[in-house]
Amino acid sequence: MDEQKSQSLKEYRDHFASLAKKHSTDAVYSQAVGGEFSAVGQLELELLVSLGLRDGQSVVDVGCGSGRLAYQLSRNSKVAYIGCDVVPELLEYASSICNRNEWRFAYTDGSSIPADDASADFICFFSVFTHLTHEETFKYFLESRRVLKHGGLMVMSFLEFLVPSHWSQFRASVLNIRPDKHLNQFVSRDGIAAWANHSGLKLLKIYSGDDNYIPLRSEVHYDNGHKLTGFGTLGQSVAILKNVGSEPIADVIAEPLGTGNHSYIDSPPEGGEVSSKQCVVHGWIWFPMIQRDIERVLIAADGKLVGRSNALYERPDVTNVLSINSNERTGFSVNLDDLEVAVGGTVLLEVIIQLKSGLQCRTKTKRRVCVVA
Ligand SMILES: C[S@@+](CC[C@H](N)C(=O)[O-])C[C@H]1O[C@@H](n2cnc3c(N)ncnc32)[C@H](O)[C@@H]1O
Repeated sequence: MDEQKSQSLKEYRDHFASLAKKHSTDAVYSQAVGGEFSAVGQLELELLVSLGLRDGQSVVDVGCGSGRLAYQLSRNSKVAYIGCDVVPELLEYASSICNRNEWRFAYTDGSSIPADDASADFICFFSVFTHLTHEETFKYFLESRRVLKHGGLMVMSFLEFLVPSHWSQFRASVLNIRPDKHLNQFVSRDGIAAWANHSGLKLLKIYSGDDNYIPLRSEVHYDNGHKLTGFGTLGQSVAILKNVGSEPIADVIAEPLGTGNHSYIDSPPEGGEVSSKQCVVHGWIWFPMIQRDIERVLIAADGKLVGRSNALYERPDVTNVLSINSNERTGFSVNLDDLEVAVGGTVLLEVIIQLKSGLQCRTKTKRRVCVVA
């Protein structure tokens, strides 16, 4: 194990040293973690926010590198933060750009997390398990179980063979044409499920790297001028795991996520007319998402977020007819922003449910409607 550990330590230090010979300062620190310093950091932040990260919580960022996520957090949030990495130069740089004296940037030996037991709401591994052996990765699962608070989430990005863009990266390794030479490790979903079982974490959800799974609150700008709105992806797939502690499994919503047919839209109807300036979507959410678990409802129009509402209510008109508990259906009304669609055009409205646990369900419930003045 020590040999494997020293391999990833050495590989990353060598990688950094060779970049340092070629580039100017900021470029070295961006390239060392894969580039697109600002865009990727923003996507990482938006992913955590979509999973429920809020001010006052604590984030542990393992393999934080030069601070893509830390920098965004320092500008946009009031969270407690620990970043750790195996390359001291990257930690120093990350610390210098964040300017947060109360934050900790700590060296790790490559398999332990320098944080107290049950202290973190979020632990993230962005583009880290892609460079570790499976044994090292599993050690970090055990560490995450130790460091996460009860109910805390572990967020990990990874590469998998069935995602086409990941396959091209694997092919590049086979052909030995990748610009960097360190290990590009792939992880299987059953591996993640097994590591979760054996470390006492519950695997809640996996997002495929080719899907746009991150709702964006603002535009993301890439170095090449490309702009992203609506939803984005890190490119890598992402798994969300939860420390459910000794909570009985029955109390955990087993499959709240993914794309289920979990809601109904009362109005507007399919093919109905909506005003581009003023439109309200009314509907209700199905069991198993019960009202106390729901934080808010979001509406997307052609993939772009156009409205959100925390105002949820009971729907006795539905539950009485079905003779079910009142909390098994949750009503919502969401006012939409300007749809920014030309009069006469159509738009596809989509219901997205955010749970208090931070998890999110993009339901299959959709309505294509016509836009009028
Ligand atoms: C591709 S970079 C990603 C950095 C950062 N998470 C981000 O998204 O910007 C991978 C990082 O993992 C770090 N790393 C490599 N092996 C590690 C290990 N065993 N434990 C912790 N960090 C490690 C590297 O030094 C590097 O900073």
